[in-house]
Amino acid sequence: MVLLKEKLEKIDIDDIKKDVKIGIIGAGYVGLVTAAGLAYKGYNVLIVEKDKEKLKKIKQGICPFYEPDLQKYLLDSIELNRLSFRENIFDLVNECRYIFVCVGTPIKDDGTYDMYYLDIVAKEIANSLKNDFKVITIRSTVPPGTGRWFKKAIIRYRRGLKANFEVVSMPEFLREGNAIYDFFNPSRIIIGSDNYDIAKEVSELYSDFNSPILIVSLEEAEIIKLASNAFLATKISFINSIANLSEAFEANIENIRLGIGLDPRIGMDFLKAGIGFGGSCLPKDLTALISVFNNYQINPILFEAVKIINEERIEIFINKVKNALWNIKNKILTVWGVSFKANTDDIRESPALKIIPRLSQEGAIINVYDPKGLHNFQNYIQKNYPHFSNNIKLIENIYESTVNSSAILITNDWDEYKKANYYNIYELMETPIIIDGRNILNPLEIKEIGFEYYSIGNNIK
Ligand SMILES: NC(=O)c1ccc[n+]([C@@H]2O[C@H](COP(=O)([O-])OP(=O)(O)OC[C@H]3O[C@@H](n4cnc5c(N)ncnc54)[C@H](O)[C@@H]3O)[C@@H](O)[C@H]2O)c1
Repeated sequence: MVLLKEKLEKIDIDDIKKDVKIGIIGAGYVGLVTAAGLAYKGYNVLIVEKDKEKLKKIKQGICPFYEPDLQKYLLDSIELNRLSFRENIFDLVNECRYIFVCVGTPIKDDGTYDMYYLDIVAKEIANSLKNDFKVITIRSTVPPGTGRWFKKAIIRYRRGLKANFEVVSMPEFLREGNAIYDFFNPSRIIIGSDNYDIAKEVSELYSDFNSPILIVSLEEAEIIKLASNAFLATKISFINSIANLSEAFEANIENIRLGIGLDPRIGMDFLKAGIGFGGSCLPKDLTALISVFNNYQINPILFEAVKIINEERIEIFINKVKNALWNIKNKILTVWGVSFKANTDDIRESPALKIIPRLSQEGAIINVYDPKGLHNFQNYIQKNYPHFSNNIKLIENIYESTVNSSAILITNDWDEYKKANYYNIYELMETPIIIDGRNILNPLEIKEIGFEYYSIGNNIK
């Protein structure tokens, strides 16, 4: 392992950047942020995206999902002619020395990663290779061993023809909702390769980022990513377990959290009690890590516990709602939050996707509000629960969503909820009850207005 931060010579990168072409395969959350960010930094970035609808929007400078500030960087990069599009991987590989693979790596029903998309990309890259040397960097989250398989797959698909390339594993750590900030200020840049010179060359693309750069092996890079996500998931399940204990006594988890998190060895981040983690990464990568452990006959008990604790959060929250309301049948319940967290419209694995149908099944009428996630949620409900669509109403105004409501259920953590006028909301509701699944409101202030307030891990009367 080599820590490069101090060692990198700061080359006058601006002069050469515009001649450096970087190809991005897959313009989703990771690919599009990376593309717009690298273009803004001065590189000549090319995109291939197979989803035609998505590509059409991106070409027009419209971000196909909500990510703060990304729209601006996307438009600027297109206007500056630093971001362009290619129809296929063949053209992209032909033009670019550096190829960043950012396609999805979902998991299958058995909990293992689905390598289908990566395999297709390996085949298309293999069919595109000519004499020029290519550096293929995997940015997708993958199980250890993938980089080596990817290399082998390309060589196989070449069927004995010369294959002039190297594979690098460069995991992505961006947080949705903070992705632009994270792109420009990465906590660390991890570059894994069998070939130190190539890894160093890739690191030079990032030489004007003020972040530590670690050069490691392919497998180390892959494990670092999975282990990082597993650690974050573990912290969340840890504090949620302690929240259960807190509720058994007259205690507030927020005070306990502060008392634990002020220890610099522990820290406050990801130590927030709530209804558990969701999103496209933590649940998927945790499940896949357990499969990797099982595959190598390593005991995954720690991560299994983290997963079970997370899944229990939904049931615990639903019980809290029922206990607070006595009866939910034919009552209007207002749910604030369908995206898996604030500042994104991404609803993948969002806890609300499980909570809303469960409450609806028990006869509640659900008014749903979310600042950005409603359109994705509408598609989700129509596809998966068409029979509930009459009982689930999507409302685009936070106040309207509370009219005649029996309770507000807070399921993600947008700032808008903190800033709302609760005096107005109190007047609009049938019974002023708030069940805060993210502990974002101030209990004293809310109770002072007259609300009955329930939160997570807080049993102070
Ligand atoms: N979303 C995050 O916050 C995040 C953070 C870190 C790592 N990751 C990892 O990065 C990877 C991508 O995640 P994402 O959220 O950006 O996924 P995504 O589904 O939003 O984007 C993937 C894109 O790749 C495109 N694609 C797939 N195959 C293609 C092909 N052959 N040619 C061209 N385009 C193709 C898809 O159409 C899609 O637009 C995953 O492995 C994920 O685990 C995601």
